Amino acid sequence: MKIKKAVFPVAGLGTRFLPATKAMPKEMLPVVDKPLIQYAVEEALASGIEQIIFVTGSGKSALEDHFDTNRELERILKEKQKDTLLRSVQSIVPESLNIVYTRQSKPLGLGHAIWCARDIVGDEPFAVLLADDLLQSEVPPLYQMINEFDRLRSSMVAAMEVPSEETHKYGIIDPGLEIGGTVQVVNMIEKPSPKEAPSNLAVIGRYILTPRIFKHLERHQKGAGDEIQLTDAMSALLAEQPIFGYKFKGKRYDCGDKVGFQVANMAFALERPEMREELIENLRDLVG
Ligand code: UTP
Repeated sequence: MKIKKAVFPVAGLGTRFLPATKAMPKEMLPVVDKPLIQYAVEEALASGIEQIIFVTGSGKSALEDHFDTNRELERILKEKQKDTLLRSVQSIVPESLNIVYTRQSKPLGLGHAIWCARDIVGDEPFAVLLADDLLQSEVPPLYQMINEFDRLRSSMVAAMEVPSEETHKYGIIDPGLEIGGTVQVVNMIEKPSPKEAPSNLAVIGRYILTPRIFKHLERHQKGAGDEIQLTDAMSALLAEQPIFGYKFKGKRYDCGDKVGFQVANMAFALERPEMREELIENLRDLVG
């Protein structure tokens, strides 16, 4: 039961970033010089994933082009002897990687987007990565989760404690027994108010799911925000199979949110030796 396939739902409207996302997917927004989606794909590759399944919607051709060869650009870079840039463009898609695209005809919610990948995933456990959750850690978070999956053989979600007043932004876990950073999930609630929230342990955008989830997603039941929610299908799955929350080791930037996105840009830019000094000087000037 090796995890070989990863689903990337990229068919959302990205309304929080309009007008930037009018003609360009949110997942193509760059952090420093790489689109969000490329960070997530690199994480999947570093975790042993062999097939990437993009669930796209209308207006996502920039994303498809990004993961395709651009012969004209490569020719020009070669001619101008820009070797480092050439390598950075050529290495986006390793030859061993298999990419498949499918469409979500209407943005009916994350749960629906994942359901659209059911025939490509087939009858095996698979990973889901939400590119707008940008994670930074020494060991790729998905790799950490796959190791834990090998031990527990059950569905799991990445989990993180969030400030209690922010529970309404997340899927929240009702936690059971915790052993070494892995928590048994008793229940999951999508975007509860701080009063209704059973804890402050939030679900972050990395999942490993057993194919049984499709049975629950196919009901197309609408939940919070009138969308078909993955959290609701996972709550239903809990009646049949255990689910675990994995407190991954690393940092998380919410790049679906404007502030989180700016912070991610700062954090990643400050790690680049060629940018760091100049950036700090400019930040000092700006803040005064
Ligand atoms: P979000 O709710 O964060 O994304 O979905 P959104 O709806 O695009 O953004 P806002 O809230 O309007 O600004 C989480 C992930 O699920 C995908 C999104 O592309 C994102 O990666 N998604 C969401 C779909 O693929 N289809 C949907 O119908 C909804």
